[in-house]
Amino acid sequence: MTVRCDRTPAWQELRKHFEATARQFDLRQAFAADPGRFAHFSQSAPALFADLSKNLIDAKAEELLFALARQCGLQARIDAMFAGERINATEDRAVMHFLLRAGAAPAGSLAGELGQVHTTLDAMLAYADAMRADHTITDVVNIGIGGSDLGPQMAVLALDEFVAPGKRFHFVSNVDGHELAGVLKGLAPEHTLFLIASKTFTTAETMANAHSAKRWFEQSGGTDIARHFAALTTNVEAAREFGISTTFGFWDWVGGRYSLWSAIGLPIALAIGSEGFRALLAGAHAMDEHFRNTPLERNLPVRLGLLDVWYRNFHGFTSRSIAPYHSALKRLPAYLQQLEMESNGKRVDLAGDVLPFGTSPVLWGEPGTNGQHAYFQMLHQGTDVVPLEFIAVRDASHDLAGHHAKLLANALAQAQALMVGKEDAGGHRHFPGNRPSTFFVLEKLTPQALGALIALYEHRVFTSGALWGINSFDQWGVELGKVLARDIEPRLSSGDVAGLDASTAGLLARLRQG
Ligand code: F6P
Repeated sequence: MTVRCDRTPAWQELRKHFEATARQFDLRQAFAADPGRFAHFSQSAPALFADLSKNLIDAKAEELLFALARQCGLQARIDAMFAGERINATEDRAVMHFLLRAGAAPAGSLAGELGQVHTTLDAMLAYADAMRADHTITDVVNIGIGGSDLGPQMAVLALDEFVAPGKRFHFVSNVDGHELAGVLKGLAPEHTLFLIASKTFTTAETMANAHSAKRWFEQSGGTDIARHFAALTTNVEAAREFGISTTFGFWDWVGGRYSLWSAIGLPIALAIGSEGFRALLAGAHAMDEHFRNTPLERNLPVRLGLLDVWYRNFHGFTSRSIAPYHSALKRLPAYLQQLEMESNGKRVDLAGDVLPFGTSPVLWGEPGTNGQHAYFQMLHQGTDVVPLEFIAVRDASHDLAGHHAKLLANALAQAQALMVGKEDAGGHRHFPGNRPSTFFVLEKLTPQALGALIALYEHRVFTSGALWGINSFDQWGVELGKVLARDIEPRLSSGDVAGLDASTAGLLARLRQG
């Protein structure tokens, strides 16, 4: 049983430590006082290296955070997830995305589920390789939104180096017809494969786009739906009713934002092949094992999750910025937004009681060096402190002379500048410094490394969510707007504003004009 973080003795100790000294913590002094700081606050984990030493944390705070994790029962919560317990209590579901990347069942108990996972995976990968080899298919269009879009889109972009030549990948998510119309413009039905990706197969945006794509396919002379459409869903029945016979299923114990490892990952498998997809899974599995089995002190997702709690609840930081110094990771911030903010953007605990402390920070970011020329001004000299996360890749996958050294130099220099600052009496040119950052190093952006990186973030979100005592696996907050949109849609043609507030009624009238 997890104990909520604020109900532990360690929480009170942390509060005291923060007020007494940690609030004034200075990175420059900490490095000067402790030559071992880098070694202590950095570590290797599967497929990556992480430097946490430029964070506003001292050994005492770290020790108390480990005590907090123990007093909260974090390990029991981790074990409960890996045992397949129904830890998603509000939906009465297990949370087992780790099983999608497991070679063997943990402790035998989930052998049945794992058998289904491998059967589906084998079928999906055989299909992916066959379609990959089919040169008449030049365009793959994934239609899905949220977890059925962001993960595959992010990964296909990130692994561009490994993508089969001769195939283009398109991702349509928005109900805004401009998006689908723009993609369809350049396509021929006989060369196109549509993947309708939806866990529920009921999501309004995806259904609207799927129907329009099917209509376009038929009206443009396409005939073989079975060959040109596949559905990736837990609701195979609904996909069949829609008219799609090629289906790849998954299970209700895979959350949408944790689903790129399932059939939802088919676009990734089509792009990088079955071997690449298995490497992606293997990288994530290695991180699962690290998370499950490593003592807290050297457990990277745990250390990061604890840091997140420290920053959010003691320093009071409300956002975190992600800076991938690799342009292929350009969709990573968007992917992480859903992962973290949909998981931990909660205001009540598991018992339904309103929390007296903050939870998910706002996540945002752009690839470096672009962000440097946009919002880094605020990170260096603004009034708010925003912890920044650098993700650098040691080896480039291009051979353009000089670029990669410039890129890496910029990443290092920004982290350094944030920390050291610069004295200047003039005010405008003064950099206060002492601004925190974390620095990840991947050797190369391979499927394996990407798998490990994503799983690292998943488990870090798990850690902070567990300490906060929330359910990181539901998303009731997305429901109200969906219901209201269904009510408003017919009013846009009828003009009926009865029962609407004055602002919504006024805007609706304006959108109907002309
Ligand atoms: O509305 C939010 C959400 O349910 C996400 O959690 C999910 O990833 C997305 O919609 C798409 O859902 P589906 O895969 O069922 O279409």
